[in-house]
Formats: sequence, structure tokens, C-alpha cells
Amino acid sequence: MPIFKAPETHQEFMTEYPRTTADSLAGQMLRHYWHPVCFSRELKDVPSGVRLLGEDLVAFRNSNGALGLVGRRCAHRAASLEYGQITPEGLMCSYHGWTFNSEGRCVAMPLEPADCPLIKKASIPSYPVQEYGGVVWGYLGANKDNPPPLPKLDILVRDDGELSMERGDIRDYTYLNWLENIVDNGHVLVLHTLVPGVIPDDIRPYINTTVDADWRNSNFSVFETYFGMKTVLVQNTADPNLKFVNTLSVVFPNGWRMANNGGIPPDWSNDRRESGGLLRIIDDTHFEVMRLSFIREGNYRKGYRPSDPRLNRSFKDRLHGTVEKKDHDHRQYPGWEGSTALEDLIMQQSQGSPAHREELLASSDAGVVRLRRIFRKCMEQVAAGEKPKAILNNDQGVLEADTFKGLVTVDELKVGPENMPSSRDGRGLLRDASGNLLFA
Ligand code: FES
Ligand SMILES: [Fe+2]
Repeated sequence: MPIFKAPETHQEFMTEYPRTTADSLAGQMLRHYWHPVCFSRELKDVPSGVRLLGEDLVAFRNSNGALGLVGRRCAHRAASLEYGQITPEGLMCSYHGWTFNSEGRCVAMPLEPADCPLIKKASIPSYPVQEYGGVVWGYLGANKDNPPPLPKLDILVRDDGELSMERGDIRDYTYLNWLENIVDNGHVLVLHTLVPGVIPDDIRPYINTTVDADWRNSNFSVFETYFGMKTVLVQNTADPNLKFVNTLSVVFPNGWRMANNGGIPPDWSNDRRESGGLLRIIDDTHFEVMRLSFIREGNYRKGYRPSDPRLNRSFKDRLHGTVEKKDHDHRQYPGWEGSTALEDLIMQQSQGSPAHREELLASSDAGVVRLRRIFRKCMEQVAAGEKPKAILNNDQGVLEADTFKGLVTVDELKVGPENMPSSRDGRGLLRDASGNLLFA
């Protein structure tokens, strides 16, 4: 691996921060981690072209069921193996039949003599690939024989509800703008309240509408955790014994978790839904949002996402505002307010790259500052020849990132790097004024 110097100044760091390719320190740092490639359900008898960390690859499942993740260009005359044929041995280039196994070695050259010595020379890049919880993961690092353990996210394997997994949301800016948005709890109280939420009639009786949404009256903390980091926002309610807590986690460097999709003031609803996802880091200026949405049994809306059209809207269906579009509004996204997904997209896209940006960070940016510190530390460690922090240990079991959102009594409130107790037991359910779980 080439030697890279750790950034010395803030500007050097900000220039390096969004880089993803192998010829950069940040790209080498990212290569210490497993990255999502696609969903298991997609890999059948057709290869799947995938760009990851600036590398054009092909994922495939050979006819014996074994997975492969290899370079996209054929070693012969560079035709794309995305159009290759699946065989028991691996992936056959459709042009002249050279066939590559999961290790990238050529195992067949049907147009050459049987003893052709070239077959020993012909190879393409290959990378370790594994499946966990319906996700195909790839490792593009140097330590191919001993990669780190997979991040075993609990949301992928839980059996107390229904998980839906959605792909196809490709963004044309750095994935860091997404991650920084996740740890920026303050924006929720501004950007996502431009159009007030509506409380559904069926849960109106359960909603505590006395939550104090003034940021200055709330308590915002940021913690590093063994999986990355989390932010905790604690807000007051009219009952001094009852707090509203919202915790969001970043599973370094490409995952996040939060409790439910809604719950924005003055709605505060909690429908036993958790969300989060994985970012496929395509290159310096592109990423894909792979969404995970989990609905626990007993959802108040009666019925899970697949059977309820209101909950079954794809990301694309949510990409329009709810306000009136004015004739004189000639912006790229006219009448954009009112859709959380679109609101976030526009702000993140409009920020541009961290490398070319002037900023003035303030106290409410504590989450962003911490996230950058973790990235910088990890880069420094890689530059020093060490493994970056926040890499999971070998004995790491299923990973439960804190995702609590809801009301807790003051006695229950635990603000620290450990998960809120209720994150495991109740997971963000609303509680009534006596602290009793609702919808239990
Ligand atoms: S280009 Fe692939 S076999 Fe010829
Ligand atoms: Fe947001």
C-alpha cells in the first residue's frame, strides 16, 4: 500500500475528507471496512455491475451458489464482465469465453489451445465478499486473507417485525453530507418544521404535545461508541418527570440508525418503526442510499408496511413538497417544503463538497465536529500504519446501535455512550405521563 501523509491543517483534512479512491489516504482508510455491494435477493443468474469506492466491479453468484466480487474489465480485451455468463466455475466473458473464478483467476480460454500458458497469467482483481442479513458485503482492503468481521447490524436479522429494504436512491454528491446530516439533530427543528406535521387521528390520544421544541431549552450530547458515534437530544415536556429523547447513531463509516421515520414536531408520533440504512459509497461525488425500514409487530396503524399503502411509498414517491408551487418559483425544486426526504436531499446537495466550502461551525454542530474528528483520527491511524478506530472486534456479536426515540421518566434517562435501556426493551415506544409503555 502506498504511504500517505496524515493531514496537518484543517484545510488539508477537508480536502482529503471526501476522497474514496485507493490513491488517497481517506480511500485507504475506507478500505479497512466492509461495504454494502447490493442485496442478496438481487444476485441470481445475472451479474451485477457495481461501482464502489471508485472501482468498477461485478458481483455475481455462480451456479454453485458461491459469490464473487471481481474487477469489471476482462483480462483479454477489456469487455465488461457485467455482461458475462454465470457458469459453475465462475463468470465467463461473453466476448471470447475467458472465464474467471471468484479469486479472479482465469480458468478457461475456449478459443485457445488446451495447454495455452497464458491462462496462468490472465487474472482480474478480486475481493472478499460475504452475505449477512440479506446484504452482500465487499471488502476492498489489502488484508484479503484476514479481513475484519462483518458489521452484524441487528436491524437486518431481528425477528420481532418486518424489514423492508429499498435500493435505487443515487445521489450526486459526497456521502459525507448525508452522514453529517444524520448527526445534526438541530436541523430537524428547523428544516423539517417548515411545514408542520399532522397527527393522525388514531394516535392523537396518545401524543404528548407538550414537548418543548425550543433547541435552547434542550440538551444535546454527542458520544463516541464502539461502532462509531451517536447523538442524543433530550427535550422537556410539561411534566417535569418526563423527557422526550431522540437518539441517532452512525455505524462508522457507512451506516446509520434512527427510531422511526416520522415523529417530527408537532406530530411526535411513533409508530413502532425504526429506520436506517447503509450507504454504498460509489466514489468521491456519488453514493447510494440503501434504506432499511423495520416495523415491529403491533404497529398502531394495524398492518405492516407492505399491506398499508400509506406506509408503502418508495423514496421516489416522497420526493415532492406539500406546499403550493408558485408560477414565479423557478428554482430546481419548486415548492419543495413538506417532504422530509426532499428537504434533506436539497440541503445536502446544495452544500457541495467539503473540500470547496467555507464554513462557520457553531455550537449546534457538535455532532458534525465529532464525526469529522473520528474520520481524521482514523486517517491519522492509517497513515501511521495502524488499523483505524471504530473497526469492530473479532468477538463482536450482533450490533445494536442506539435508536431510542420517545418519552422516558427522569429515572430511566441515561445519557451516555451505552444504549438507552429502553432501546432494547420497547425501542422508542411512546410512554404516557406515568411512564407506562403505550402500544405494549
Ligand atoms: S474480451 Fe473477454 S474474452 Fe475477449
Ligand atoms: Fe433531516
